[in-house]
Amino acid sequence: MIIFFTFLIGFTEAQLKVGFYNKVCPAAETVVANVVKDATKSDPQTPAFMLRLHFHDCFVEGCDGSILIDNGDNSERTAPGHIGLQGFKVIENAKAQLEIMCPGVVSCADIVAMAARDAVALLLFFDSHGPVYQVETGRKDGLVSRMELAARMPDVQDSIQILKQKFIEKGLNDSDLVILSAAHTIGKAACFFMFKRLYNFSSSGGPDPSINPSFLPELTSACPEGGDAGHRLPMDHGSGEIFDKQIFQNIRSGFAVLQSDAQLMDDPTTKEIVDSYFGLLSPLPGPSFESDFMSSMVRMGRIGVKTGSSGNIRRVCNAFN
Ligand code: HEM
Ligand SMILES: *[C@@H]1O[C@H](CO)[C@@H](O)[C@H](O)[C@H]1NC(C)=O
Ligand SMILES: *[C@@H]1O[C@H](CO)[C@@H](O)[C@H](O)[C@H]1NC(C)=O
Repeated sequence: MIIFFTFLIGFTEAQLKVGFYNKVCPAAETVVANVVKDATKSDPQTPAFMLRLHFHDCFVEGCDGSILIDNGDNSERTAPGHIGLQGFKVIENAKAQLEIMCPGVVSCADIVAMAARDAVALLLFFDSHGPVYQVETGRKDGLVSRMELAARMPDVQDSIQILKQKFIEKGLNDSDLVILSAAHTIGKAACFFMFKRLYNFSSSGGPDPSINPSFLPELTSACPEGGDAGHRLPMDHGSGEIFDKQIFQNIRSGFAVLQSDAQLMDDPTTKEIVDSYFGLLSPLPGPSFESDFMSSMVRMGRIGVKTGSSGNIRRVCNAFN
């Protein structure tokens, strides 16, 4: 009976759709876009923060704003898998503005999804390169935030098999894993994530042999052994400001900064997907990096979305109502 009831709710609830707020809060998308734009003026790293935040939100308990909750030592956001996340204030600021205009209408989960899209879109103005897509909205905010729920976050040291498995668990396939990893075309990584790869890869006592020998000295001088774990370096060597498929070329030639990115070459399926963006016939009629990225972002944005009574609309993004 209960199962039947839940089944029915699942069917009668509104699904995600483009323009969910058009009637109920017409300014929603503009407000978020402006907040992201202003934040980017004061900190150019903002787009990278927004993009990563959406990924980390969606991979734990679905895209439900659970990452935003700050309820003490056991908050989801304190989990080891979320180290380095930034940009929470940008989301909170957008929410505060929207609460004045349309109280209780726009979910924090949707603000995160919109901000990630706007972040990518903004790069268009800076570089004429960032892909833009229509973002689906209509998510409810989640009602739980617990550190241990983030245990299955993809980790930089996971094998390619585990990375693939973790994406499949979220309904994303190998193509999504590859193309979404290309989000590392922007942003920076802390040396914290590099030390094992540079100085004791797989307990070998040496560096990851997949690092191009001409790149290794650059990495070791940016992240000297025993040095500052918080020092951050661009993940897309030579192209860290531009949203483009250069990250894949770097991965192919041993210039990946993150071990998880380098590993995309260790599996025949993911390697073939990376290589497909550099076919003889590329870019036409081969796959389009931009449009594939947008499709995968939309699929990621659908993970575990809460509708109906499984969630609510928060008044502030960092606390439950
Ligand atoms: C495949 C599994 C992934 C792993 C293991 C991974 C790991 C990491 C790590 C270790 C960092 C550095 C964080 C820091 O030092 O602050 C990072 C940064 C970043 N990641 Fe990922 N990531 C993955 C997938 C993704 C996906 C799917 C997206 C978005 C679609 C994404 C977007 C970003 C962005 C934009 C940054 C830069 C953040 C900044 O500059 O502060 N990552 N990632
Ligand atoms: C992953 O899913 C997308 C969309 O359904 C599809 O176009 C793509 O071919 C799939 N990739 C793999 C490796 O199955
Ligand atoms: C490398 O890691 C292994 C296992 O964690 C450890 O036993 C070994 O002492 C480390 N080697 C170096 C050189 O740090």
